[in-house]
Amino acid sequence: MMNFDKFPIMLAPMAGVTDVGFRAVCSAFGADSTTTEMLSVRAMAHNPQKTEFMTLTSPEEKHKIAQIFGHEEEYFERAVKSKLLQKFDAFDINMGCPAPKILKNGEGAALMDNPILASKIIETVKKNINRPLSVKFRKGNKSPNFLEFGRMCQDSGADYVVFHARTVEQGYSGHADYDAIASLKAKLTIPVVGNGDVVDKGSLEEMKKTKVDGVMIGRGALGRPWIFAQLKERQNIDKFDAIKTHINILREHFEENWIKLYIRKHLLWYAKDLPMASTIRLKLANCSDLDECLAILQEFFI
Ligand SMILES: Cc1cc2nc3c(=O)[nH]c(=O)nc-3n(C[C@H](O)[C@H](O)[C@H](O)COP(=O)(O)O)c2cc1C
Repeated sequence: MMNFDKFPIMLAPMAGVTDVGFRAVCSAFGADSTTTEMLSVRAMAHNPQKTEFMTLTSPEEKHKIAQIFGHEEEYFERAVKSKLLQKFDAFDINMGCPAPKILKNGEGAALMDNPILASKIIETVKKNINRPLSVKFRKGNKSPNFLEFGRMCQDSGADYVVFHARTVEQGYSGHADYDAIASLKAKLTIPVVGNGDVVDKGSLEEMKKTKVDGVMIGRGALGRPWIFAQLKERQNIDKFDAIKTHINILREHFEENWIKLYIRKHLLWYAKDLPMASTIRLKLANCSDLDECLAILQEFFI
C-alpha cells in the first residue's frame, strides 16, 4: 500500500507519455509511485502484444501501478489474473477518461453515470487481487456526482481514490476545483489523492490545503521529470542525464526507428523551458538521428 503518512507525490497515468523510460526517470527523481498508460482489459485478452510494451517496467520504479480500463467485469477479472500484470504493486481503475471513443463504449468517465456497474467492477477486481486498488475519477460526466461516486468506490472496496477535479465537459480547461477536492476528502474515510494543476511549490501548497493524503502530477511532469526532485527540495539535479537515461531505457526494448518517432514530443517538452526553445525546436525538427538530437539538447542544458 502507498505510504500515505508521508504525503506521496505520484506520477499520473498519461496515455502516450508514461512509457517505461519516463516512469523510471520520474521515479529516480523521487516520484513515490508511477502508473502505466491506461491498459484496455479487452485488448489484454485479445491482443496481448499490443499491451505488452505499455506494461514494461524497470527496477528504478519504486511503486508500480497498472491502470486498467474497460466495461466488462469478466475482462477485468482476466486482466488482473494475467501474467502480464503480476509484477505490479497495485492496480488503478480508470473511471475518468473523457475521450469520446472511450465514453461511447461505456468506459472511463462513462462509468460515473453507471455506479452499479462501476461498483461491480471494483468488487470483482478487488476480489481477484491481493494488492491495493485505487479508482481514478473526475468531478462527473453528465452531472457532478463525485461525492456519491467516491462513497460508492469506498463501499465497493477501493483502498483509496484519485480525484481529478474537472468534469468531462471541461476536458483539461479551466482550473481543477480544489473546493471539490476538499469536500470529497471530508466525506471519505479512505485516503484521497488530489489531482489537477500541481506544477510547482505554490500549487502543491494550494493542493495541500484541501487536506488530501497525497498528490498526483500529470502535465506538470511533461518535459520536467525533475519536478519531483524540485518539490522534495533535492539537490544535484542532472537534467540532461535524465533525458539520456529516458532514451537509453527505451533503447533496451525498442528499435531506433520507432523511438525516433515516438520521442519527438518528449524532446520538444524537454526543450520548452530552455531560453532558446524556438531555435532548439527548429534544430530538433531537422535532425534525423537520435544521438544528434541529444547533442542538440545537451548544448543548451549546460
Ligand atoms: C496526454 C495525457 C494523457 C492522459 N492519459 C491518461 C490515462 O491514460 N489515464 C488517466 O487516468 N488519466 C490520463 N490523463 C489525465 C491525467 O492523469 C491527469 O488526471 C490530468 O492531466 C490532470 O492532472 P494534471 O493537471 O496534473 O495534468 C492524461 C492526461 C494527459 C495530458
